[in-house]
Amino acid sequence: MTMSGTPKIVIIGCGISGIAAAQRLVNGGFTDVRILEATARSGGRIKTGRFGNNIVEIGANWIHGPSEENPVFCLARQYKLLDPEALSPENQGMDIGGHPPWVPNVFSSSGDQLINAEDIYPAQDMFVELLYESSQYQSQGGEPWPSVGEFIRSEVRQRAAEQWKDIDAATRSLRMSVISNLMKAECCVNGAHSMDEVGLGAYGIYKTLPGLDCTFPGGYEGLIKNLMSELPSGLVTYNRPVSCVHWNSSEQRENPVVVECDDGEKIAADHVIVTVPLGYLKKHHSTLFRPPLPLHKLHSIQRLGFGTNNKIFVEFDSPFWDADCEVIYLLWDDEDALVQQVTDVQRSWLQKLFGFTVLKPTERYGHILCGWIAGHESEYMETLSEQEVTHAITQLIRRFTGNPILTPKRILRSQWFHDPWTCGSYTCPGKGCSAQDLENMMESLPTKGSQSQPLQVMFAGEATHPFYFSTVHGALLSGWREADRLISHYSKSKL
Ligand SMILES: Cc1cc2nc3c(=O)[nH]c(=O)nc-3n(C[C@H](O)[C@H](O)[C@H](O)COP(=O)(O)OP(=O)(O)OC[C@H]3O[C@@H](n4cnc5c(N)ncnc54)[C@H](O)[C@@H]3O)c2cc1C
Ligand SMILES: *[C@@H]1O[C@H](CO)[C@@H](O)[C@H](O)[C@H]1NC(C)=O
Repeated sequence: MTMSGTPKIVIIGCGISGIAAAQRLVNGGFTDVRILEATARSGGRIKTGRFGNNIVEIGANWIHGPSEENPVFCLARQYKLLDPEALSPENQGMDIGGHPPWVPNVFSSSGDQLINAEDIYPAQDMFVELLYESSQYQSQGGEPWPSVGEFIRSEVRQRAAEQWKDIDAATRSLRMSVISNLMKAECCVNGAHSMDEVGLGAYGIYKTLPGLDCTFPGGYEGLIKNLMSELPSGLVTYNRPVSCVHWNSSEQRENPVVVECDDGEKIAADHVIVTVPLGYLKKHHSTLFRPPLPLHKLHSIQRLGFGTNNKIFVEFDSPFWDADCEVIYLLWDDEDALVQQVTDVQRSWLQKLFGFTVLKPTERYGHILCGWIAGHESEYMETLSEQEVTHAITQLIRRFTGNPILTPKRILRSQWFHDPWTCGSYTCPGKGCSAQDLENMMESLPTKGSQSQPLQVMFAGEATHPFYFSTVHGALLSGWREADRLISHYSKSKL
C-alpha cells in the first residue's frame, strides 16, 4: 500500500471526532488527509450561539468529569480555556457519579408556594439509589425488567409502600411527583423519549470520570477553534455533504474507496473515516454505503438509541429564583401516579420540561435560565414558531410562580432533531443493547477475514466509544483511536 505513495484519507464530518482524527493523522506524518463537512462550519454538536449580550451553548455545555484522564479537560487546560476553579485539585477530585449536587428551587403547578428543598430529598435519594442499582445490572446480568423506567417504577411503588407508609398522603404525592420529575430529567441526560426505552442491562455500560462538571467561560467552540488552528489550512471542505461511500471495489483500482458527494463529485481514497452522528446513520445507512453495511453492524445501529434533548434559553430582567439556586424543578400536582409521558403532545408538550438550570455566574450572564426537554415532546417543540414557544414558556412560568405578569425578555431554543446532519441529540443504551453493539459500531470494513484491502471504511464519533458515548471526550477519543489504528497499520506494513 505504501508502494503507491502516501495513503489518501478522507474524513466525513468536521465535529470533534473528525477534527481529532485529522489532528493525529497529520501529526503522525500523513500528508493526504482531508475532511468533508456537510455544513458551513466546524464543531458539529459543539455549537456556541449568541443570546442577547451573552453566549450560550446550543449543543455540548459541560466537560463531564474534568480530571486528568479526560482529554477534553487536558486540552482545554492547555489552551487556557477554563476558569481557575475548574483547574483546582478539589474540583478534579470530586467524584459525583454523574449527579452534580445542585442547589434546587422547587415550584409546583398549583403555583401557591415554593416547596422546601428538604421535602424533595427523600424522593431524590431514593431515585439516585435506584439509578445506581440500575447501573449494576450491566455486570450482574439477569435483570428483572427490560428497561430502567420499568425497574424504577416498580421499585418506587414497592419501596414507597414500605418506607413511606406512615407518611401523610400529601407528602407522599409530592414525593411521587418528584420521582416523576427526576424521570424526565433523566430522559434529558440520556437523550431518550422515555426511560422505558433505556435498557436496564445496558444502562451501566456508560462510565463517568471524576471531577465536578465545568463549562467553557468563552464558549465550547474555543476548543474547536484552537484545534482547527493547528491543522493545515484548506484541509476541510465545507458545504460538502457526502451522499455515498462506495467501498469493496471489485475492480483492482489503486484506491479501493470512492466517496461520492451531493454535488456528484467523486473522491478516491484508501481510507474513509465516517464520523456522522448515529441519528444520521439510522436514517441514511441504506443510501450512504455501497455495498450496504453488514447485518450485525446495521442491527447495532438500530438497537442503540438516539433520541432528542433540547434546550430552551429564557432571559429575565430580574430573577424569580433564589440567589444560590442552581436548578429549578417544576412539579406537576397530577403526576403522583408516575405517568410516563404526556397524553396530548400538542396541548401539553411543555409538561415534559423538567425545569431549568441557572446559568452561572450571575455577574457574567445576568438572569438566564436553560430549560431542558427530551423526547417526542421536544421534537414537537422544534416544529413550533419561536413566538409559540415563548407564549407557552411564559404561561408555564406564570402558572408555577403564581405571578401573572412575569415576562421573559428573550428566548432561544435548540432544534437538534430537525438538524438534517444530526437527527437527534446523542446516543443512549437502548433496550436490549449490550457492549457488543458499541464494538460493532466501531468495527471497520471490510470485516475480519475478508481478502480485500483492510481498513477501507472506519468509524469514529461519540456513538462508537465503548463507554464514553454521548460525550465530547468520547467523540474525541474515538477520533484519536481510528487515527492510531491507521498509524499502527502503516508502521506494521512498513516493517
Ligand atoms: C443538546 C446537547 C447537549 C450536549 N451536552 C453535552 C455536554 O454537556 N457534555 C458533553 O460531553 N457532551 C454533550 N453533548 C454531546 C456532544 O456534543 C457530542 O457527543 C459530540 O460533540 C459529538 O461529536 P462527533 O464528532 O461524534 O459528532 P458531531 O459533532 O455531530 O460531528 C459530526 C459532523 O458530521 C457532519 N455530517 C453529518 N452528515 C454528513 C454528511 N453526509 N457528509 C458530510 N458531513 C456530514 C455534521 O454536520 C457534523 O459536523 C451534547 C449534545 C447535545 C445535542
Ligand atoms: C467484497 O468483495 C469480495 C471480493 O470481490 C467479495 O467476495 C465480497 O463478498 C464483497 N463483500 C461485500 C460486503 O460486498
